[in-house]
Order: sequence, then C-alpha cells, then structure tokens
Amino acid sequence: MTNQFSTQAVHAGNDVPPPQGHAVSPSIYPAVTYTYDNMDDLSAALHENVGYSYARYGSPTIAMLEKAVATLEGTEDAVAYASGMGALHGAFAQANLTPERPVVAARNVYGATYALLNKMYANSGALHFVEIADREAVQAAIEQHHPRVVVLETISNPLLKIPDIPAITQWAHDHGAIVIVDNTFATPYLYRPIDHGVDVVVHSATKYLGGHGDVLGGVVATTAQRAHELRIQQRSFGANLGPFEAWLTLRGMRTLALRMREQCANALRVAQWLQAQPPIARVVYPGLPDHPDHALAQQLFRANHFGGIVSFELRDAAEPEVFRFMEALKLIQAATSLGDVYSLLLYPAQSSHHALGREERLRQGIGDGLVRLSAGIEAAEDLIADLRQALH
Ligand SMILES: Cc1ncc(COP(=O)(O)O)c(C=O)c1O
Repeated sequence: MTNQFSTQAVHAGNDVPPPQGHAVSPSIYPAVTYTYDNMDDLSAALHENVGYSYARYGSPTIAMLEKAVATLEGTEDAVAYASGMGALHGAFAQANLTPERPVVAARNVYGATYALLNKMYANSGALHFVEIADREAVQAAIEQHHPRVVVLETISNPLLKIPDIPAITQWAHDHGAIVIVDNTFATPYLYRPIDHGVDVVVHSATKYLGGHGDVLGGVVATTAQRAHELRIQQRSFGANLGPFEAWLTLRGMRTLALRMREQCANALRVAQWLQAQPPIARVVYPGLPDHPDHALAQQLFRANHFGGIVSFELRDAAEPEVFRFMEALKLIQAATSLGDVYSLLLYPAQSSHHALGREERLRQGIGDGLVRLSAGIEAAEDLIADLRQALH
C-alpha cells in the first residue's frame, strides 16, 4: 500500500538503516524522542536508563561530549548543560546546603556566580565568602563555618590569582566538605583539579573548550554517582545542552591542546612586551616572575603554561582613556567573553565587574584603567603591533 503524499513527506527516508562502518567523527542526533520495536525496551529506556528515550534524559551527541570532557578532566563522568551558569546552578543545587552546612566560596568568583550563590543561599544564611588567596582566612572559614561545599576558581578574573587548591582541598576534606572548582580559565590542558582530590569540576564550555565563540555551554565533571544524581536533577531542572551545541563544543575540543599552547605562548609574549611600555602602569600575568602566584602556577600548571589571559593597567587612565584605547584597536576586538581563537579585550569596570560598583571594585584591586586581554591564536607580532598602534 502506498501512503498519501502528506504521509510520505512526514516519514520518507526514515527507514534508511544506520551506517555499517564507524563514523570517524561525531554525529549530531537531533531526535528528541526514541521508539523501540519492543515496548519493554521503551520502558527500560524510560525508567532504567537503558538506551535513549527523551532528550532531556540523555542524547547521544551530548553523551559523546560528556565522555570527552570526563576523559580530559580525569573524572568518572560528566554532565553537560546549556551554559556555564546552568552547570554551576546544577552543581550548587545538588550540594543540598543548609545554614548548619553552608557553602564557603571565593569572594572573587565570576560575577554571575557570585550573584547566583547570593540568590540561592544568602537568605538562608548558608553562604560565606572568603578571600581565597588568604590561606589563613580560608582555613579559618572552613573551621568556623563547617561547610558542606567550598567553591573556587582555578584562576581568578581579572587579577589572575591562583588559590592553593591542593591545600584548600585537604582542609575541606578534613572537615567533611567537598570542593567545587570552576576550571574554565585553566582548562584540563593546564591543570586537572581532580588530580588534587577536587570533587566537582565545572566549565563554561563557552570559553576554551568550545574555543570559537559560537557556542554557549557548560559541563560538570565528577564521580559517576554524582553525575547520576545530576542527571536525575536535570530531568526536572532542564537547562540541557542541545545536540548542535554539543557537536560544536566537541569539534572545538579536538584542538584544545593546540589552541592552549598558542594562547599561553601569545599571552606570555604580550605580557613581556607590555611590561616595557611606558603607557602601561602594571601587567598582571601568572607567567611573569613578579606575579604573586607565579611559583604556585609553576607548581600546579603544565610546564611553561600560565593561561591565555593577561590583564594590564593603562597609566593614569579612567573610562574615557580606556574607551579611546579600545576603539583604537584594529585586530583585537573589544568584547566580553574569553578563550576564543581570536583575541578579545574587555574592560572589567564596564562589563564583568560593573555590578560591583566603583568602591568595591577598587577595593578588590581592579582599577579604573585595568583591561583584560584574552589572547587568541593570531601571530604574537600582530597582536603586539595592534596594541602598539592603539597605545602610542
Ligand atoms: C569563570 C567563569 N565561569 C562561568 C561562566 C559562565 O559561563 P556561561 O557564560 O557559559 O554561562 C563564565 C562566563 O564568563 C566564566 O568566566
């Protein structure tokens, strides 16, 4: 029996069998729902996680990305989210914090993370911020507050401070707390928090993992048990990553090592050049010997790699001078975000740290003339030439 045109239009081609050979690159599976010849198999997929049933419960392209991130981070499993903030929300919500067992978090975490923690926990009194670079303060906060979770970032933004993750993890574990590390700035190419006992690693995949500025995503990498709980949580939270975004992220990750190598080398070259420029009052880069955490970076990170971000302060500059400088750049693009193949420059007072207000921003050491460069993979000479023409 031949179906009518409209029926054919809906179903034609669906019976082409899956490929016999093994596809050499990841495939995109946009299907939202799956059928089975045997309804017992559909029940198993729905209720026992044997096979796929509905995309919010799991999907093949997303599973490939999750496995890839878990492999690079050295964790048992990983769970992908629609954004880095979605991933952080999932990780925080799972922690089940109470005033008796609160979170102790680095005060200088990414602005939206700071806001999220406040939204989720400030009212219940289950939130305490600490100056994460101050070892005594961190130790005291853990002892005093008896947290269930300690939250920090591998490299802070924009002053690129590096906390002593091995020591903090040890103190946290001694007091029965788990540690969540946002490893977005370092990536597993530079540093794998899991190697120092960290329990949960979070990424904004929007940044270095994706690497091309064309995908918003996030990932939580952790134990199989926690990942299982996160997936159950995700069934009701949603915030799932889409298959096209998972594919783009996977594609980006194939060159993570190459990009990070170039970006770290470019950042170091630019930082060294900036140091010798009279219009520059200060250069902040963990690869420079004068950075307060240079030795720790050498100890923790892959040899001779210090990240792709450089912050620097224009001498005697405030917003008008910084804006003129940003407008004068021709190759480096003045835009928020980081970790892309192309270089980006951001003014914290205008974007990432705007919400802090001037007084608090200055208190944190983020001056009116401070800008943050995310080095791309262009030739270092071209980046330097662009900075030179914009500065002089
Ligand atoms: C360190 C860090 N964590 C998390 C996020 C949030 O990620 P997303 O923008 O993918 O939600 C960002 C974004 O800039 C970030 O820099």
